[in-house]
Amino acid sequence: MEVRLQKYLARCGVASRRASEDLIRAGRVRVNGLVADLGSKVEPGVDEVTVDGKRIEGFFEHVTLMLHKPAGYVTSMKDEHANHLVSELVPEKEYPGLYPIGRLDQDTTGLLLFSTDGELGHALLRPKNHVPKTYIALVDGQISDSELTPLRTGILLDDGMTLPAEAKIVRGVEEQKARKLFEVSQTASMHTGKGMAAKKGNSEQSVVCLVLHEGKKRQVKRMLSAIGHPVLALHRESFGCLTLGSLPRGSWRLLSDQEVALLWSYMQ
Ligand code: URA
Repeated sequence: MEVRLQKYLARCGVASRRASEDLIRAGRVRVNGLVADLGSKVEPGVDEVTVDGKRIEGFFEHVTLMLHKPAGYVTSMKDEHANHLVSELVPEKEYPGLYPIGRLDQDTTGLLLFSTDGELGHALLRPKNHVPKTYIALVDGQISDSELTPLRTGILLDDGMTLPAEAKIVRGVEEQKARKLFEVSQTASMHTGKGMAAKKGNSEQSVVCLVLHEGKKRQVKRMLSAIGHPVLALHRESFGCLTLGSLPRGSWRLLSDQEVALLWSYMQ
C-alpha cells in the first residue's frame, strides 16, 4: 500500500509531518534516486527513500485503540505505587510505544484512547483543537436546570475560567441506564479498591451530562463541586466522534483507519 512521502518520513522517525514537508520542499528527499515533491507517494519496503543521501527505513503503521476503562485503574503505563494500571488492560507488548491520550481519574470509567502516535495524542489534547468529550456524572443532591447555567457560560476554577460547556440533566430511560451503569461500576471497583461513594437507591442524587471542549485536571468534578453538587460517579461516554458502543467494560478495540482520520479532522 502506498503512503504519502511526508507520512513515511514521520513514521520512520525522521521528523514530524510538517518538518518532513519542509525537507521535501527543500529538495533534500529523493525517491528511487529522483528528487521528490509534496505529492510523492512511496511503497514501504519497495521504494528507496533518502534524505541528504541517507537511506530512510523503519516504516511502521501506528496503532490507535479505545479502552472501556473500569473503575479502580490508574491511567498510567508504569507506576510502582498503583495496585492496578490501565496498561494491564491493553496489548502493550504487541504494540510497543502504546500510551494513553489524556487521562481519566482512577474512579472514572469510560472511553480512554491509546496510541503509538505521539503526534496524534498531542494534537488531540491541544486546547485550541477543542475536541469535545462527553461525560455522564452522578451527582449529590437534586439539581435544577438553572444551576447548570454557570457551566454553560464558563466558571472560575482555581486554574482559570472554563470554556462554555454543554450541560443538561439526564432524565427518563437515559437516567435509568446511567444509574445502572454506575451501580455496575461501583460493584466492580470494590474488587480493585478505590471507587466513589455512589449509594444505591438514593433519590437525593441527579444524573448530569456535560460536554467539555477542553481537558483541565479533574475538570468535571471541580465544575460540579463548584455549583454545589459533588460528583459521586463519573463516566466518559465519548471522545470526539467516537463512542464506546457495546464495547464491554475492561475491553479494548483497534480504531479503523476511517476513525483515526475522523480524529485528525479535528486538527486546526
Ligand atoms: N474530569 C474529571 O473530573 N475526572 C475525569 O476522570 C475526567 C474528567
